[in-house]
Amino acid sequence: MRVLIVGGGGREHTLAWKLAQSPLLEKLCAAPGNPGIAKVAECVDIAADDIENLKIWALEQKIDLTIVGPEAPLVLGLADSFRKAGLKVFGPGKAGAQLEGSKVWSKRKMKKWGIPSAGFAVFDDFDQARSHLARFYGGPVVIKAEGLAAGKGVTVASGPAEAEQALYDIMIERAFGSAGDRVVIEQCLSGEEVSVIAITDGKSLIFMPSSQDHKAIYEGDKGPNTGGMGAYSPAPIYTEELAKITEEQVFWPLLNGFKSEGIDFRGVIYAGLMISKGEINVLEYNVRFGDPEAQALIPRLKSDLLPLLDAAAGGDLSGREALWTGDPAVCVVMASKGYPASYEKGFPIEGIDQVEQEGAGRVAVFQAGTAEKEGRLVTNGGRVLGVTAWDSDLPKALDRVYGACDQIKFEGAYYRRDIAHRALKRK
Ligand code: AMP
Ligand code: GLY
Repeated sequence: MRVLIVGGGGREHTLAWKLAQSPLLEKLCAAPGNPGIAKVAECVDIAADDIENLKIWALEQKIDLTIVGPEAPLVLGLADSFRKAGLKVFGPGKAGAQLEGSKVWSKRKMKKWGIPSAGFAVFDDFDQARSHLARFYGGPVVIKAEGLAAGKGVTVASGPAEAEQALYDIMIERAFGSAGDRVVIEQCLSGEEVSVIAITDGKSLIFMPSSQDHKAIYEGDKGPNTGGMGAYSPAPIYTEELAKITEEQVFWPLLNGFKSEGIDFRGVIYAGLMISKGEINVLEYNVRFGDPEAQALIPRLKSDLLPLLDAAAGGDLSGREALWTGDPAVCVVMASKGYPASYEKGFPIEGIDQVEQEGAGRVAVFQAGTAEKEGRLVTNGGRVLGVTAWDSDLPKALDRVYGACDQIKFEGAYYRRDIAHRALKRK
């Protein structure tokens, strides 16, 4: 099979790493890819959201299956455009991608389809939105920009001053452009978060194991939110009982809702859940694999990933199953100094090859913000690497992953030392 991966981050490197192991693979390509992906795939310099040129290229190259990594091209309608041209795609069309692309659409559908989620109100006007804050009696409240904001459009405000500032940034300063035309003001939920990810053909679901990411920049989950500073799988809080409730209350009503509206959803459904005292609420749905959750999940998959994604894209997962190892996996993100605010790029990275050789079969270094400059690998983004290890138990996986991080060097490298702290506490 000739396969194209759209995207060029750590999640796409993880997908490429796994797909490259498939005996069904004839050729693997990525657009735009990155230097890590280039070790296993041919990278073509077309941006992930340049739908027209991607389509022309995929037709020329006779691509059998296109796998879309990030949300933006899906929200823009990549899958519809490819399908119209007769190309097979893993990823929902524009209608289904609204689930992630529009917070208002998503919250309204959750309410309509009876999916448990925080109470909310929608505003197009700054003054009205500000007045609404009084209802929270000075307590915490969540402010969300309506559209895609690269994971930065959500503020969990501890009180009205912070909430008002977030409203101002979104609606007046237009920090996220047109994503700030509308806001959702939401009741703040507390508890522990879990990411639950399933592959669907629109009719059935294949669940991945649970995972948990660490969004805050500093240890102890302090400081501003990032795209994710690390992840691990499984998340011990997510018991079999909670999994059953989640299937019944979070996944099936969504699939049935899609069906009732004629939305043919083929791809990933990612539910970000808040769990408190055995009760589940959906914080958010995404329509793609989590990043860095994918880095901690995919190495645990024993089955071939390619036929699963191909069958989902083809609309028929019947008879397919995914087998997983019981070994936990941990991904630690190594970031540039200054991230998630401004940071410098272009620092040489050393030690990846050595770490991968020494840890062969138990360690993988997934590249996110990297580039090649004059034949050397250099930093090129905020989140630079997703160093990942797996082992027979969590403490061993942690020893392994931090041993690897300590050997990888670039100027200003920063990483959290407490990834998986919740799972360790539970043991
Ligand atoms: P993202 O998934 O990047 O859009 O980030 C959203 C994050 O904001 C979630 O993972 C939570 O940490 C937080 N969040 C969103 N909605 C709520 C809510 N209603 N109550 C508390 N935290 C929330
Ligand atoms: N790690 C969170 C996300 O992918 O949205």
